[in-house]
Amino acid sequence: MAEGSHFDPYSPFSKGDDLGKSRCLKAGRMAHQKGVNLTDVKVNDTQEFVQVRPHQEGSLEDVWQVRSSCESGRIVALKCSECGLRPGTVRVVGGADVPPGRWPWQVSVYHGSQHRCGGSVLAREWIVTAAHCVHSYRRLQASAWLVFAGIVTHGSIKQEAGVSVKKIIYHPLYNDNSLDYDIALMKLQVPLNFSDAIRAVCLPPSHQDLFQGTPCWVSGWGYTRPGQAQVTETLKEALVPLIGTKRCNSSCVYAGELTARMLCAGYLHGEIDACQGDSGGPLVCQDEVAWRLVGIVSWGQGCAEPNHPGVYTNVAQLLPWIYHVTEDRKFTTRKTPDARPT
Ligand code: ARG
Repeated sequence: MAEGSHFDPYSPFSKGDDLGKSRCLKAGRMAHQKGVNLTDVKVNDTQEFVQVRPHQEGSLEDVWQVRSSCESGRIVALKCSECGLRPGTVRVVGGADVPPGRWPWQVSVYHGSQHRCGGSVLAREWIVTAAHCVHSYRRLQASAWLVFAGIVTHGSIKQEAGVSVKKIIYHPLYNDNSLDYDIALMKLQVPLNFSDAIRAVCLPPSHQDLFQGTPCWVSGWGYTRPGQAQVTETLKEALVPLIGTKRCNSSCVYAGELTARMLCAGYLHGEIDACQGDSGGPLVCQDEVAWRLVGIVSWGQGCAEPNHPGVYTNVAQLLPWIYHVTEDRKFTTRKTPDARPT
C-alpha cells in the first residue's frame, strides 16, 4: 500500500503483508510495517480500509475487500522507506574527490582494521556489497566486519564509530571463478541513524530498460592508479555510462564472459574506471524519482584499460533474492544465540 494507507487484516501477518510490501518494492523502496491499534493512528472519517482474507485463492479483488469501517480495530500500518535522495544540496581511476553528503548510501566495509570493500545502505540495518568481498572470510565470524557510514575521508574514522555486522548472507549461487551472482547482504548489529550524511539508496525496478549510454556514477575509496595498491583517503566518484551487454561481451571486449547477472559501465577507451578497493560499492543511476542501485562494483581486467570496462553485478536481476533475504523472518527476527560447542 502507499505510504500511510491501512490494512485491516483478518489475522496478524496475513497475506496483506506481502501485497502491501510489494507495492513499495515495485517502486524500489524497502517496506516497514507494524500491526497497530486503530485508535493509535490518525485516520479521517472518509478513510477506507482493506480487509485481507488469508488463504484465499483468486484475484486481488477476492483477497482484498474494501470496507468503510474496521471491526477488529487492528490494522497494519505500512510505510515505504525513503531512499535515493541526496540532502538539499574510487578504486576509481580518473575520478574526482567527493563532498560530504553526495553519495550518502556509500559505506566503507572494514575487516579488522582495514578497508576491504565498498557497500551501499539499503535500509537502516541492511548493507549490500559484493559476495567476492566476504566469501573468502566465510568461515570467520561476521562480527570481525565493521561498516562505516556517513564518512568521506578515512582519516575521520574512529574505530568505535563503526557498526558491527551481525550476519552476512552471500548469494547461494555465487561462483568464485566466474563471479556470477556477486552479491552479499550484511545485517547490522545496530540500525544506522539516518541523517544528511547517511541515507538509503533505492533499488531499481525489476523491469527497466537500461539503455547504453545512460550516465551512471560509481564511487569508492579504491586504487586511483592501477598497481598503486593503496586505497585513497577521500571518497572518489566517476561518471561511467552504461555499455550494452552485447558490446561488452563481444570478442574484443569480454568475449562472452558476462552472464545475465552482470553489466558493464565505463569507457572502451579506458582511463576512467573503478578499481581494487571499490568492489562492493555502488553504481547508481538517477531516474525522475531517485538514485537507484543499478550495479555493484564486481570485476574488470586490470583497471581503466582500453576495451576492458568495469563489470558490475546487475542488481535488477537479483531483486527476488534481496527481497527474500531482507523479509525473511529467519534473518529479521532476534534469535537466541546458537549453542557453542565447549
Ligand atoms: N575486484 C575489485 C575489488 O575487489 C574491483 C574491480 C573492479 N575493476 C574494474 N576494472 N572496474 O575491489
